[in-house]
Amino acid sequence: MPLRIEQSTSASELATLVGPLEAVPGPRYLALARRVQELLTTGRLAAGSRLPAERELATALGLSRVTVASAFRELRETGHASTRHGSGTVTELPDTGVSWGAPTTDPGVLDLAHAALEAAPQLADAYRQALAAFPAFAAGHGYASGGLPELRSAIADRYTARGLPTDPDQVLVTAGTGDATDVVLETLLQPGDRVLVEHPTYPGALGMVEAHGGRCLPVPVTADDPDAVIGAAQLAARQSSPRLAFLMPDFSNPTGARLTAAGRRRLAATLWQQGVLAVVDEVSTELYLDDGPLPPFAAGLPDAATVTVGGLSKAVWGGLRVGWVRADAALVAQLGDVLRRRQLSVGVLDQLAATTLVRDLDAVLEQRRAVLRERRDLLRAALARRLPDWTVPCPNGGLSLWCTLPPGLSSAALVAAAAPLGLVLAEGRAFGTGHAFDDHLRLPFTRPADQLHRAVDLLAQAAATVRAEVAGRVGTDARPAGRVPAVV
Ligand SMILES: Cc1ncc(COP(=O)(O)O)c(C=O)c1O
Repeated sequence: MPLRIEQSTSASELATLVGPLEAVPGPRYLALARRVQELLTTGRLAAGSRLPAERELATALGLSRVTVASAFRELRETGHASTRHGSGTVTELPDTGVSWGAPTTDPGVLDLAHAALEAAPQLADAYRQALAAFPAFAAGHGYASGGLPELRSAIADRYTARGLPTDPDQVLVTAGTGDATDVVLETLLQPGDRVLVEHPTYPGALGMVEAHGGRCLPVPVTADDPDAVIGAAQLAARQSSPRLAFLMPDFSNPTGARLTAAGRRRLAATLWQQGVLAVVDEVSTELYLDDGPLPPFAAGLPDAATVTVGGLSKAVWGGLRVGWVRADAALVAQLGDVLRRRQLSVGVLDQLAATTLVRDLDAVLEQRRAVLRERRDLLRAALARRLPDWTVPCPNGGLSLWCTLPPGLSSAALVAAAAPLGLVLAEGRAFGTGHAFDDHLRLPFTRPADQLHRAVDLLAQAAATVRAEVAGRVGTDARPAGRVPAVV
């Protein structure tokens, strides 16, 4: 089911997005409908946007009202809009059956649906040290609600060293970064609250907002112009008064976009002034591959302005279920109460190992960055060789490439064609609201070189299959409603 979204588009904004129609062949009403469909599937216009009144749009585009009315009718007929009593015409995307299955652990399957590295070499030793410290804990009950004091101190010290002075009582330990976001949303969202989200964004966040009764308010984000999100967020905040904003300032998943230092200061201050609490996901923040660190999003503002979530899944290992929230102490206490209702504690051995790893994170990260840099470059080179008509920008951090597919190649179809070959992928639509981004594919560069080479071979095979199928059934809908694996 498409996610609920609410946003109005003015006639002049839509006219700018639509652009000149003269070059589009066919009748003018159809050209307008096609452009709106294209804007929807590429995510530049969100599903759930209220379209302007026909008369206003006709004036803005220099068309007759009949032409605009016919275009709206066409959009309704193709499932790209519906007319709701009292709400005017609202954009939609036809429900193409995106659903997520559980991640596979089948060793015979090559998994590029999940952006996570194999365990860091330091992990086993961290557990050995945890076991050595274990006797001191064994006599107690073993619950460490809110987090072991030594882990909370280690996390607080790391924030402080990064330029964000933090006390241990501002830290709550959770079972991963996703768990941290979930407890924040569970605590702060009321049903119907709007949450500003980057678009595309991390699918887990979309699901969590939905699960807690929130409504996503998508604002476009692009790696080409990362600070452009600021203006869009300001506008959306003014128009729709979101309660929260879910942001990934460093190496946004999936685009790899990174806000500049000045841009993050501006966005943080604006949201604070507009009463929008920023929930900042830093799971990939320290995975910068080309440039150095930038100041944390929350730096320089009161602690109550921002909630930061982070964890060790991307830097160390997804199987180590340790994450955290950093917020002002009063909110952390409130979050702790909510978390305790569902789990009394994260495992003590995991927390002990995490303490060592957080204290030694610089050494871990230095190796991880070297590995990721090499795999990123290797994957891009292999794609350029085998699939030269794909557009594959080079992110300067994070774990994935956000590829633009050539015209006519559907991401959903590609994913469906790759699955029988043993290659599991996350299709572009998983990262958008209203199932946008069928023209994109996220490819993590997290697997070893031989697996990345094999993945590209299989991708080329799948792309050829899709092309052959499309050529054989011109005029029919070539997009299958395949299952999409859970995406991390
Ligand atoms: C942006 C983002 N946040 C959170 C998560 C989940 O992290 P964890 O495994 O620590 O729960 C992911 C995993 O892909 C992610 O990409």
